[in-house]
Amino acid sequence: MTRVLSRRAFLWTGAAAVAGVGLYTWGVEPHWVELVRRPMPLEELPPALEGRTLLQVSDMHVGPRVDAGYLASALRDAAALDPDFVVVTGDFVSAGTADEHRDLAAVLGHLPHGRLGTVASLGNHDYGRAWSQLDVAAQVASVARDAGVDVLRNETRLIGGLQFAGLADLWSPEFAGLSAMRALVPTADLQPDVAATLARLDRRRPTVVLCHNPDALDLPLWDGVRGWVLAGHTHGGQCKPPFLPPPILPVRNKRYTAGAFDVGPGRTLYVNRGLGHLLRARFNVRPEITLFTLDSA
Ligand SMILES: [Fe+2]
Repeated sequence: MTRVLSRRAFLWTGAAAVAGVGLYTWGVEPHWVELVRRPMPLEELPPALEGRTLLQVSDMHVGPRVDAGYLASALRDAAALDPDFVVVTGDFVSAGTADEHRDLAAVLGHLPHGRLGTVASLGNHDYGRAWSQLDVAAQVASVARDAGVDVLRNETRLIGGLQFAGLADLWSPEFAGLSAMRALVPTADLQPDVAATLARLDRRRPTVVLCHNPDALDLPLWDGVRGWVLAGHTHGGQCKPPFLPPPILPVRNKRYTAGAFDVGPGRTLYVNRGLGHLLRARFNVRPEITLFTLDSA
């Protein structure tokens, strides 16, 4: 009898634990934002930028699977930090439908604007189906621009002495600029390619590159580029067992989970875990907003 009871108690305890973890993974952690603060040492930083802050938001994934009220509230909290620069590193939306564009406009109404500037790059989801719809990318960029976000599609900007580049997404047709693509779709609004954008950077200026997919760092494009490359895309894997890497990571280089990586002479990659999600499940990988403080290297 005791044995039966203890076995039953054991099974109930196990079931309750599984239900508890499931509830936490679905109901708590996906909306439990961690504010990560870190220094951003930069060479040639003008004295006027010393101590200024740069806020990174990534992978909001506006769409039916992410609660718009949660995103708005997280962005309002971030606004209280009063950042000098704000950057968004792609995946504004999930599928790029008309509904998502409307919801994106509402969510971006809560995005703080940097006192000096607000810039962004696009992510693979911002290019719609199969990451290939340039008209969807143009619409996402247009909604973001209407909300005061300067979306850089293979473009550079100099803002208050800090040089930014925003790259097209690695999986999009814009990444390589693709002269071949231009031949295939002569009317497409193709931007200059990533290599040309990086080549245009002034090597003597402090530089922040926005590049959604960290796998791009392993391509032979970065010679002489110094500074920081801010990325997202991985969502940190969304779920990971303690002390082990996440089982699912949408990158070729499995080293690029989340956090900072030394990726070359004078070059640091930072992978943000994102604010939204694809499926609503996070375990041991809280959503993130990052606040960098600029510092002379
Ligand atoms: Fe994403």
